[in-house]
Amino acid sequence: MNIHSLGYARIESADPSRWRDFGTQVLGLMEVQGPASEQGTVYFKMDERPWRFAICPGSEERLVCAGWELGSASDFHDATAWLKGQSIATQSGSTEECQERGVRELLRCQDPAGNTLELYWGGGLDFAPMISPLGVSHFVTGDEGSLGLGHLVLPAGDLEVTHRFYRELGFGDSDYMEVPNPQTGGADGIRFMHADNARHHSVALYGVPAWPGGCVHMMVEVPTVDDVGRCLERVGERDIHVFSTLGRHSNDRMLSFYMMTPSGFAMEYGCQGRLMDWDSYQPSITTGRGSFWGHAFQMPEMPAD
Ligand SMILES: [Fe+2]
Repeated sequence: MNIHSLGYARIESADPSRWRDFGTQVLGLMEVQGPASEQGTVYFKMDERPWRFAICPGSEERLVCAGWELGSASDFHDATAWLKGQSIATQSGSTEECQERGVRELLRCQDPAGNTLELYWGGGLDFAPMISPLGVSHFVTGDEGSLGLGHLVLPAGDLEVTHRFYRELGFGDSDYMEVPNPQTGGADGIRFMHADNARHHSVALYGVPAWPGGCVHMMVEVPTVDDVGRCLERVGERDIHVFSTLGRHSNDRMLSFYMMTPSGFAMEYGCQGRLMDWDSYQPSITTGRGSFWGHAFQMPEMPAD
């Protein structure tokens, strides 16, 4: 099986107009028109793909699902067969859902921790220019978006079971680290995993049972330090909570900071993420703090188990 890249994110919000403002005026994404069948949904474009983020109106603030692109119809059918062989409940996307997402086939399922995945193949490129309202020249997603939109970190209470699911689905290991948990006095593991592209990780599984908004953080990458600094300035002007100060991660070398989104989870905004050659890479274990410098986190209150 071959999970190619992180294709899209669908987010539910009680007030998508807050995301419209945040996406266009803080992150610098381009708002685009979505399908007429999805009235009230706010779409953001970041590269040659028609859209990468869909903010759907609803009653909660949460990540609804991550869309994972498979490289071909045969990879998609292999993944479908594997999920069915594991007796994992799946739901095929309707014709309308496939049209809304601009994909050929779609299958929805949940990982063992309850995070929803939408697997698909056949996502198209519209090649319409991404014109950032803030003058961000482009977002770093690789040639024709081949690196995917960025990465996301998901809560995974039963870390090893969830990790095995992603391994068997087709992700590869990148790095493992443990971070202190001030509430338990222990440490929580994080499994960083890559898809079939050179981005250091497309998903990371954080061994905690739950997280506000169902997502620990997402990351989008911009080309330069100045793009990151300008965003940090906008965040300061708007008094948006800085979830983590500026720093450089040791595993993906991303120079970044984290801000709170309107849906209560964090968005990492970074540059200079390293590109990997997986054929010559050995998965690593980070025993230090996960950053060369910076990245002082101010975590939100955790919900009770
Ligand atoms: Fe990150």
